[in-house]
Amino acid sequence: MTFPHRHLLGIEALRPEEITTLLDLADQYAALNRQSDKHADVLAGLTQINMFFENSTRTQASFEIAGKRLGADVMNMAMQASSVKKGETLIDTALTLNAMHPDLLVVRHPHSGAVDLLAQKVNCAVLNAGDGRHEHPTQALLDALTIRRAKGRLQRLSIAICGDIAHSRVARSNIMLLGKMENRLRLIGPPTLMPAGIAEFGVEVFDDMHEGLRDVDVVMMLRLQKERMDGGFIPSEREYYHRYGLDEDKLKSAKPDAIVMHPGPMNRGVEIDGTLADDINRSVIQDQVEMGVAVRMAAMDLLAQNLRLTRAAPA
Ligand code: NCD
Repeated sequence: MTFPHRHLLGIEALRPEEITTLLDLADQYAALNRQSDKHADVLAGLTQINMFFENSTRTQASFEIAGKRLGADVMNMAMQASSVKKGETLIDTALTLNAMHPDLLVVRHPHSGAVDLLAQKVNCAVLNAGDGRHEHPTQALLDALTIRRAKGRLQRLSIAICGDIAHSRVARSNIMLLGKMENRLRLIGPPTLMPAGIAEFGVEVFDDMHEGLRDVDVVMMLRLQKERMDGGFIPSEREYYHRYGLDEDKLKSAKPDAIVMHPGPMNRGVEIDGTLADDINRSVIQDQVEMGVAVRMAAMDLLAQNLRLTRAAPA
């Protein structure tokens, strides 16, 4: 088995060579996605259920498109309208769905650890589409693929992750993935938005953008996660933009060919200048969205292969 995992819950459990296996397969799906016939039937006969307990645009849409292109029966559970509203627990909802024999369950939840807990209760493959401030593995993988395609490698790069690190599952998964692949990581942001004990992750920490961005190959911006803040983290959005928002001037500190990334959704004029975000010579934000579909196809393909192997094995 080249990808010996039942679930995709986080980057933490993955080895560098497994990450490479997944990205190589995703490259093939990226090529398929550019053809007019985008179908491969590796998930034919399987049922995929998307359960999003938190809002999502691109992650949910790309998991849905990914499943459909691979031939799965895809259902989006409308969690706002479900029995969860009537007080049913996460586990009850999971067990109910489990009884319908899904093969792939894609879950986003506002609480860190909720998706791991759910994975212990069901007998299908579970993919974490973001849990609280814990992990967002497919985002880190799509970021990695975008970087690898733009820079020709995923090692020995100098990469800055900027902004609201403390509340960001995207930052957490990326720090783990890019660290495993032996890159130099710099975290830039106000001290109030840096998680405690972050230096132990083997990263350099800065609170000045010009200094932190010096000679980096990749600039990864993050959204201010206001829904996870209980007030008082930043003086004002204007002040934040002035000090930490990415604009042409701050970007001059990075290498001339540095790429600009953002997982979306963007607050233009808060974390990033709108014109810069749209500048196709610098920004790879649309490539990130494109790679998101390919990476999710690859992840579901690999997990479905394992599912078939385990089911075929004698008890
Ligand atoms: C991220 C998320 O939900 O964690 N968005 C995404 O998946 N594209 C980042 C964010 O919400 O800021």
